[in-house]
Amino acid sequence: MEQAAAARVSEPVVSGAKVGKTFANGTVVALDNANFAIEKGSFVSLVGPSGCGKSTLLRLIAGLIKPTSGVLNLHGTQVTGPRQDVAMMFQRATLLEWRTAIENVLLPTEMQRRITSEDKDRAMELLKLVGLGDFAFSFPAQLSGGMQQRVALARLLQTGADVLLLDEPFGALDEFTRERLNIELLRIVSEIGATTIFVTHNIAEAIFLADQVYVMTPRPGRIASVIDVPIARPRELSVQLSPEFNHLVEEARVTLGAL
Ligand SMILES: Nc1ncnc2c1ncn2[C@@H]1O[C@H](COP(=O)(O)OP(=O)(O)O)[C@@H](O)[C@H]1O
Ligand SMILES: [Mg+2]
Repeated sequence: MEQAAAARVSEPVVSGAKVGKTFANGTVVALDNANFAIEKGSFVSLVGPSGCGKSTLLRLIAGLIKPTSGVLNLHGTQVTGPRQDVAMMFQRATLLEWRTAIENVLLPTEMQRRITSEDKDRAMELLKLVGLGDFAFSFPAQLSGGMQQRVALARLLQTGADVLLLDEPFGALDEFTRERLNIELLRIVSEIGATTIFVTHNIAEAIFLADQVYVMTPRPGRIASVIDVPIARPRELSVQLSPEFNHLVEEARVTLGAL
């Protein structure tokens, strides 16, 4: 009993208190009064229409921009700028074309220090983890869009950060590739125990992936509701046909005013 109580009061890995962000001299409220706490190892989806502040919230957590009001904490210390314990991935892979896959994966390390043979071993392991063991020495132009995002995912993991921010990472890919990559992403982040915040505008995708879904609404950007997803893991794609799943989709739609 005492242990359970202690677990409940343990520090969340990422938290925000009354976090706000405005642009254009306060005329655009990108994020208004966001309060949240994300547990270690959990998977949170941010879902909502364009302009509801999803990317803004990720960029705030990554320390790429500063809040106009409120406080953000990561691993118990306030976020005041970019740091090593959090890493972000975007919709476009942004690989360097003149570098091989493994050279792209090694880039975050290279920007910090001299590369060692252990770093190279680690990069190769990560490429195997994302299913590209045979493509380490291929150039981005030789890889499909999905494979390029796999390289970007390996590069994200190479940073060693245990808080991963993914901004519609597979949004530019076809539906089949996206579903496959989503399932692999789930496997990988659970294997390494990362805390993951994943942005999408697809409600079913948000629910399928997450332990918790933050449903966001625009003007001003707000976390309008938080939906817990009590569906067992690992999840098969077929859970999306269950009444339980569809009930959660409806709940999110009601919040978004889409019913
Ligand atoms: N650098 C910026 N300057 C001005 N307005 C911005 C800037 N970044 C975002 N915004 C505005 O803030 C709101 C939220 O944007 P964003 O976080 O990108 O939404 P989402 O990722 O959910 O589509 C939008 O109205 C957007 O136009
Ligand atoms: Mg966005």
